[in-house]
Amino acid sequence: MLAVLDSTTLLELAAARLGTPPEDPVDGPVRVGVDLGTATTVLVVLDRDDRPVWVDTHPSGALSDGVVVDFAGAVASVGGLKRRAEQVLGVELRDAATAYPPQIPLADARACRFVCEAAGFGEVALVDEVSAAQRTLDVRDGVVVDVGGGSTGVGVFRGSELVALDDRPGGGHHLDLVLAGALGLSLSEAERYKREHPQEALPVLVPAFQRIAESVRLMTLGAEDLPVHLAGGALMLPGADTVVATWLERPVVTHPHALFITPLGIARAAS
Ligand SMILES: Nc1ncnc2c1ncn2[C@@H]1O[C@H](COP(=O)(O)OP(=O)(O)OP(=O)(O)O)[C@@H](O)[C@H]1O
Ligand SMILES: [Mg+2]
Repeated sequence: MLAVLDSTTLLELAAARLGTPPEDPVDGPVRVGVDLGTATTVLVVLDRDDRPVWVDTHPSGALSDGVVVDFAGAVASVGGLKRRAEQVLGVELRDAATAYPPQIPLADARACRFVCEAAGFGEVALVDEVSAAQRTLDVRDGVVVDVGGGSTGVGVFRGSELVALDDRPGGGHHLDLVLAGALGLSLSEAERYKREHPQEALPVLVPAFQRIAESVRLMTLGAEDLPVHLAGGALMLPGADTVVATWLERPVVTHPHALFITPLGIARAAS
């Protein structure tokens, strides 16, 4: 058994494995995580030492606010990711774990499991996204915030115990809407502009980041003493963390490749 990897090393490894097979063949059992996101579906395969050996993504569109709105599309997306991983790694992927945003009805959470089963997985474990993110970051006392494409999920952890969990609409898609409106761009142009011109995009997006921060503040009343850890892709824009920290008047901790934090933790929840 190798030494336990810290979260930064894990995230760097995951980023290095994105679409890149490992040099050595995978030996022994693997664990699979499927993150059905509003913006992106991510599949992560971990080896027996919890090291990422394969990471792959597919643009989503099959979910809205964490709810599966296009079941067939979601199944096709997960099935495609599963087959590609099996081909590349030369192993059959049997079981998996998947996650749902906190606060959605149980029936909608179960739909995430049904998508994975219909895509060919056997046993599918179900966890909430924020607890999955915490598994990667191992935050003992802190607030874990997952700002994805569609929603902002928040978990408050004290002594590693989850003491509060919430989720509200608001994420990268809303940032794209603001940019598109302000600069006269289409949504896909706004998405590209945000990534290619982050410095120019930031000032336009400050009020939108402040709105996300205010939503975090309202969801974490009573936890003002705790630092805030950022997961998810939407706050990866350089400078967004400072806007959030200033608004919240609390330390904000960023992590590299934040959009892999939740998918990695989901895979760690698989049997
Ligand atoms: N480099 C980047 N700079 C700015 N934004 C980014 C960057 N990379 C990704 N994003 C944004 O991150 C969002 C996707 O993040 P993530 O993959 O965490 O969402 P998701 O899991 O699909 O959504 P949700 O969790 O809400 O269902 C998109 O809105 C995208 O625009
Ligand atoms: Mg997500």
